Amino acid sequence: KKTHVFPFNLILIGFMGTGKSTVARYLGKTQHMEIIEMDEEIAHREGKSIPDIFAEKGEAYFRDLESHLLKELQRETNQILSCGGGIVLRPENITQMKKNGKVILLTASPETVLERVKHDNSRPVLKNRKNTEDIARLMDERRDKYLAAADLVISTDHKSISQICEEILTEV
Ligand code: S3P
Repeated sequence: KKTHVFPFNLILIGFMGTGKSTVARYLGKTQHMEIIEMDEEIAHREGKSIPDIFAEKGEAYFRDLESHLLKELQRETNQILSCGGGIVLRPENITQMKKNGKVILLTASPETVLERVKHDNSRPVLKNRKNTEDIARLMDERRDKYLAAADLVISTDHKSISQICEEILTEV
């Protein structure tokens, strides 16, 4: 199969557990593209895990780092940028992402998300919220922001990773 060279970046956004990192890894491998995992880069630079950054410095501090990194990454092309689920919370990030590349929104039902995150303790935002009601409520609060940022919306429910990536590559 042919690989693509994109004259822009592919920016993956979406709620926690919608598959951004998995899709990034798969696309990176099959399309020979460099991946930037924003959370990983932030944790690396801070020398701390994401939960520790939230606990010790607070969410606003984390959001500042996130916005700053996003700005810094704007010049490259043909990269995959896998964003943290809350990247759309700051309006300026939405503007910045649109400059950086094509924004691909991954979606999943609250049930699917719960299934994917239930054994995971690395997401401070979901601490004590591991149930479909709380997940659905948080998704509703963020929905308009995700949609405002997205150039393309891809549902990941009941699909294999290769199906999801095939869809992205044909539609982007
Ligand atoms: C967050 C999502 C996380 C991470 C942080 C905050 C959020 O990324 O950036 O815990 O507010 O949705 P993932 O979407 O990769 O879990």
